[in-house]
Amino acid sequence: MESIKVGMLGLGTVGGGVLKIMQEHQEKISAITGRRLEITKIAVRHVAAHPEVAELGIELTDDVNAVLNDPDIQIVVEVMGGVDPTKDYIIQALKNGKHVVTANKDLIAQRGSELVKIAQANHSDLFYEASVAGGIPILRTIVNSFAADQIEDVKGIVNGTTNYILTQMVAKGMTYEAALKSAQELGFAESDPTNDVKGIDAAYKMIILTQFAYGTNVKLSDLSVEGIDKIDAVDIQQAKSMGYTVKLVGESAEINDHLAVSVAPVLVPNDHPLATIQNENNAVLVKGAAVGTTMFYGPGAGKMPTANSVVSDIIATTKNIVLGTSGNTFNGYRQKAALAKPSE
Ligand code: HSE
Repeated sequence: MESIKVGMLGLGTVGGGVLKIMQEHQEKISAITGRRLEITKIAVRHVAAHPEVAELGIELTDDVNAVLNDPDIQIVVEVMGGVDPTKDYIIQALKNGKHVVTANKDLIAQRGSELVKIAQANHSDLFYEASVAGGIPILRTIVNSFAADQIEDVKGIVNGTTNYILTQMVAKGMTYEAALKSAQELGFAESDPTNDVKGIDAAYKMIILTQFAYGTNVKLSDLSVEGIDKIDAVDIQQAKSMGYTVKLVGESAEINDHLAVSVAPVLVPNDHPLATIQNENNAVLVKGAAVGTTMFYGPGAGKMPTANSVVSDIIATTKNIVLGTSGNTFNGYRQKAALAKPSE
C-alpha cells in the first residue's frame, strides 16, 4: 500500500491525542483511505521532552522548516496554536503544496479568508473542523447538510472551559477561581485562559460559524462580546432560585438582512435544551428555513474529542489526495449572497 507522510507542528494536549489515534487506528485509517498514513516528523520546542515519541521512530525537531520544507511530507498538521508566527508557517506549508489541517480558531477567525485564498491558489486543502466546538463535527455538518438550506440563526454554547466553570459553580457551589483551576488541570482551558473567560474564544468560534452559516466574514470588533469573569456565586444562586441557569451563549442571527453576532452570559430557562449542557460539553443549535431548528451536542474541549476532529480532517484530505480533488477549504459552498455585517 502506498504511504502518505504527515508532519506535525506542536505536540501539546491535542497533538498528543492526534498521535495516539493515528498510531492506535492506523489499520482502520488505511482501510478507509487506501493509504498508509505515517507521521514522520514533529516540530516541538523541546526535543528532549518527548523520548516516547522518538522510540516510535518519529523524528523530532525544533526546526519547523524541517517539516515545512520536507518534500516527502504531503500533510501538515498544525496544533501549536497562536496567530504569529503560526500563520507564516501555514502559508509556507500551503505554498510548498502541502495540505494543512489545523485546530487553531484564533488564526482561522482572524486570518482565515487570507489562508483560504492561498490554499485555493496552491490547490491545497485547508481543514479546521477542530477549531469550533471541539469534538462536535459542526463545520462539515453545516457544509454538507445545510448546503441547500437558508440558515437563519446559529446559537449555542461553544466554549467548554466556561461551561465547565458555570456547571461547577451551580452543581458544587465551587468558587469561580477553583472551577477555573480545575478546567485548566483537565486541559480544557487555553494556555492563557483569558480568552476563554472573557468570551473571546467563543467569539472566534462564532466568527467561524458566521462565515459558514451566511458566507459573511465578520471580525471581533463587529461582535458584542462579554465573558463570565464578572459572574459570581450570588448571580448563579439568584438565577437558580428563579428557575434559570447562567450559560455563556454565542449567537449569530439574521435580522432584517443584517447579522447580529454576540457572546454573552445569558439566563437560560431550566427547561431550555441549552440549560442541560453540563461541564465541558458544547451544543450548537442551527435553524434553517427548510429544516427548522436542529441541535448538535458533544464534548467541546479536551484532548481526545478535539484530536478526533483533527484526525477526521486528516482522513478527509487524504481522500482528496487519492481522488485528485484537493483544493478544498470548506469555503465557497454557500451560494447565498453574504449578509451585511452589523456595522454596515
Ligand atoms: N479552550 C477551549 C474551550 C478549547 O474551552 O472551549 C476548545 O476550543
